[in-house]
Amino acid sequence: MHQPLDVARGANLRAYNTFGLSAAAQTLVRVQTEAQVRQVVNHPELGRAPKFILGGGSNLVLTQDVQACVIKVEIKGRELIETRDDAWIVEVGAGESWHDTVAWCLDQGLPGLENMALIPGTVGAAPVQNIGAYGVELKDRLDSLDGVDMITGRMVTLAADQCRFGYRDSVFKQLLAGKTVITKVRLRLPRPWQPVTGYMELERKMAETGITQPDARQIFNWICEIRRAKLPDPATIGNAGSFFKNPVVTAEQCRDIIGRDPEIVHYALPDGSFKLAAGWMIDACGWKGKSIGRAGVYDKQALVLVNHGGASGAEVVTLARAIQESVYGRFGIRLEPEPVVV
Ligand code: EPU
Repeated sequence: MHQPLDVARGANLRAYNTFGLSAAAQTLVRVQTEAQVRQVVNHPELGRAPKFILGGGSNLVLTQDVQACVIKVEIKGRELIETRDDAWIVEVGAGESWHDTVAWCLDQGLPGLENMALIPGTVGAAPVQNIGAYGVELKDRLDSLDGVDMITGRMVTLAADQCRFGYRDSVFKQLLAGKTVITKVRLRLPRPWQPVTGYMELERKMAETGITQPDARQIFNWICEIRRAKLPDPATIGNAGSFFKNPVVTAEQCRDIIGRDPEIVHYALPDGSFKLAAGWMIDACGWKGKSIGRAGVYDKQALVLVNHGGASGAEVVTLARAIQESVYGRFGIRLEPEPVVV
C-alpha cells in the first residue's frame, strides 16, 4: 500500500537551511521511506518536475525561490549489519543527523568517525560533498550507498570507488546532481581502530593534557571542543560551515605567493601541489568580523560567513563576491564557494 505523499506548495525553506535564509519551494515533498522516493518519480506531475534534493541544508545558500520539486530526505534507521575481520559495516538512513550518528557509533563501541564529530548536516548529504575534518574524509569511511534513480525510479547501489570523490566533491555534485536521491549509506569502520591524530590542533591537545594515546571518545571530545571554539553553532548563528574551499596551487605559484607573503599558511599535498588556507588569506585581507548588510564574516574564523539575523541570500553572495575580489587582488587566487548556491 502506498502511503500518501507529504506535499506542500510554496513552503518557506528558512527552517530547512542552516544559514536561515528565506526562500519558497514551489513544491516540498518530505520522504521517510525509499518507497516514497519512488512514488515521487512515478507521480504524474512531480515525476516530470526538476528535482532539488535537500538533506540537512547545511551546505546551501538560497538566493531565490526554488522552482523545483524539493525532496527533503527524512529516512531514518541505524544498524550494525556486518562484522568483518577488517571492518564493521554500519548501515544508516540518509535522513539521520551526521553528528548523532558519530555519537551513536561510539556508544555502540564502533569507533572511526570521531574526527568528523559535529559536522552539521545529514548522513545522506555526507557523501555528496565528501565531508571531512581533522584528517579524515567520508570517502575513507564509506563502504557503499543506496539511492533511487530519479529518472527511472530504480534502486541503485554505488560502491565507494564509483562515487568519484574529490576534495569536497563527488559524482553527486557533478554528473548525478539532482538525479539520484541517496537513501542509505553503509559506513566502513576499520578494525582494529587506529587513531588519526596528525592534525596540529589534536597534537596540541595531546601535549596540553599529556594524553599521548587517546581513545576514540577522547578524540571525539577534543574535536567537539576545537570546533565549538571556532565554528558558530547554526542553531544560534546561521552559517554553512566553511564558505570557501581551500585553493590548491602549483609549487611554483605557492613559491611566488610565499615570496610576497612569507606567513601564508600552506600544506604540501602528495602530488607536489600545495593547499593554501583560504581562511588565512581572507583574514589577511582584513575581513574577520566585517559585515555587508546583515551578512558577516565570523569573528573567530574568517572562512565562515554568518547570518547576523534576517540576512538575504543576495547579501551573503554580495559579501562573498567582495571577499573573492579582495583575495584575488592581493594573492591572485580565485576562491571557490564550498556550499551549493541556488
Ligand atoms: N586561519 C587564520 N585566520 C582565520 C582562519 C584560519 O589565520 O580567520 C588560519 C588558521 O590559523 C590555520 C589555517 O588558517 O593555520 C587553516 O584554518 P583551520 O585549521 O581553521 O582549517 P580550515 O582550512 O579553515 C578546513 C576545512 C574544515 C575542517 C577543518 C579541519 C575546508 C574548506 N575547511 O578548515 O571544514 O573542519 O579544515 O579539518 O576544507 C567545512 O568544510 O565546512 C569545514 C568546516
